[in-house]
Amino acid sequence: MCGIVGYIGQEQAAPILLDGLKRLEYRGYDSAGVAVYNRETGTLSVRKAKGRLHVLAEQIHDGADLRGTVGVGHTRWATHGAPSDVNSHPQTSRSGKIAVVHNGIIENYAELKSFLISKGVPFASETDTEVVAQLIEYFYQGDLLSAVGRVLHRIQGAYALGILCADCPDQLIAVRKDSPLILGYGEGCSFLASDVTAILRRTRQVSYMEDGEIAVLTRTGIRCYDHLMQPVDKEIVQVDWDVDAAEKGGYEHFMFKEIMEQPEALRRCVSPRIRDGEVVFEDFCLSPEEIRALEKIYIVACGSSYHVGMVGKYHLERLTRKPVEVALASEFRYMDPIVSEKTLVIVISQSGETLDTMAALREARRRGGKILSIVNVVGSSIARESDQVLYTWAGPEIAVATTKAYSTQLAVICLLALYFGKLLGTIPPADYRSALEAFQALPEQVEQVLSRKDDIQYYASQYFNHDSVFFIGRNIDYALGLEGSLKLKEISYIHSEAYAAGELKHGTISLIEDGSLVVALAACPRLFPKTMSNVVEVKSRGASVLALTTEDRRAETGQIADGVFTIPGTCELLLPSLSVVPLQLFAYYVALMRGCDIDKPRNLAKSVTVE
Ligand code: AGP
Repeated sequence: MCGIVGYIGQEQAAPILLDGLKRLEYRGYDSAGVAVYNRETGTLSVRKAKGRLHVLAEQIHDGADLRGTVGVGHTRWATHGAPSDVNSHPQTSRSGKIAVVHNGIIENYAELKSFLISKGVPFASETDTEVVAQLIEYFYQGDLLSAVGRVLHRIQGAYALGILCADCPDQLIAVRKDSPLILGYGEGCSFLASDVTAILRRTRQVSYMEDGEIAVLTRTGIRCYDHLMQPVDKEIVQVDWDVDAAEKGGYEHFMFKEIMEQPEALRRCVSPRIRDGEVVFEDFCLSPEEIRALEKIYIVACGSSYHVGMVGKYHLERLTRKPVEVALASEFRYMDPIVSEKTLVIVISQSGETLDTMAALREARRRGGKILSIVNVVGSSIARESDQVLYTWAGPEIAVATTKAYSTQLAVICLLALYFGKLLGTIPPADYRSALEAFQALPEQVEQVLSRKDDIQYYASQYFNHDSVFFIGRNIDYALGLEGSLKLKEISYIHSEAYAAGELKHGTISLIEDGSLVVALAACPRLFPKTMSNVVEVKSRGASVLALTTEDRRAETGQIADGVFTIPGTCELLLPSLSVVPLQLFAYYVALMRGCDIDKPRNLAKSVTVE
């Protein structure tokens, strides 16, 4: 998704902006641009280029061509208007003296554009963002802040804006509404960024802008105002992320690095939450009485986070006997959901900035639900708007395809199911104890699975040329199949579907023919015989079957399937946490063998901040 960086200080701005944009590349983008104020000419120098950042960097000789110590930069992921040089940001006003970078969407841009055209303002691009630049100039009468304020009263939608004006080169203006923006505080310099990774090498002192806030950045500090232009004191926090953790650390791809980091991520996520044989959540937002009184649990999320919710539903219902509904966040808002003060809404998001998920959260809150979020990015919008946040502590996840965030989200929801189950008395004490023991062993068991990655690589080499892959399973194995299928299609571009194994025969089995690849997920012991009978059905129609089961079932599975990968035995609750690892590795190796751009798959973005 789009990335913003801005700098005002003593050094040349362009190389700093390019470096910041480089750190944001992982978000996904299709063009990039920078605007820098040149004091000698008194004008803004704007350079933009479609394609990867290096195209822009080469054009401006790594920034050496643009002289000036204040500027803004942007990586764009197209929404309004195709990826092109002219549609890239910064967008400028007709005179060229105002430059704007923008994340989000201006929903009423068409109406505003018509208004400006009727006033004789010519437009160069197809973007919604150009409307903002033109409108600021339209209102500008020597006071930039007041012009920006007037524009904010007219634009609707989601936006994080970085604004630079040639008439006021000793300041940058930042605005936030429904799209994240961070302010960075340095020695004799200030920064703005859509994501802390963009500025982490320059400063660790940051503050998070709230919706409706406007900030004026200068070389000596940052002033912040609320939507009524009243000064706001911002809390400055120290970011303690390890910079190297956001780099590849010797691996060929971030995705592989992040797959391999899962044992450590799970330790970080789980260990502090199991104490003296109990699941512990500090300052839980619901009292035991409120938990008992819950009539319903909703889980809302998108993509892989939604798949975590699908697994979580099975666990939560089994262990708490409370009804659980899982909804795609993009649908939730429009389905008139039944939410009351006796509904717990669990919002899951790695980035904490997914717009659909954020909108669902707000809808749930409006209807009276209690919001508990499971989030990776600390201080993100979803985290800040929740009644309770359970951080996953997976560390920065850079690859677009999520792996360690999925695993840690899953761990948190499993812990939550145990916590509720214990409190409600719906989980037998022996099952609770054995689940906690299994949890302690989980990171090591994940390490065991990872140590057999060569087996998965071998299977990938057998099947990477297939055009279509089906994942089948029942119950938690089915929910897991959804993630296995998404992982494969998003990075290898192979068509793939996940089906409840028993549902195939109601239509989809007509697609099975000689050579079809079916990945059969058969880890859940109580459903193993049922799933294997579905495996026989697809085998007898010519499919090749790659099966995933537990070690104790290897021999009998091998009699039917063409290939078998096993995971160590564990309690039912944690089977998906082990099974997902070979599926991630399979997708990774298949994509590698097909020569795909693994960390930045086409058309995808890490953080999806548009509806
Ligand atoms: C999965 O690999 C994708 N990156 C995607 O489905 C992702 O899970 C989804 O966009 C939700 O993102 P979030 O967890 O940051 O809200």
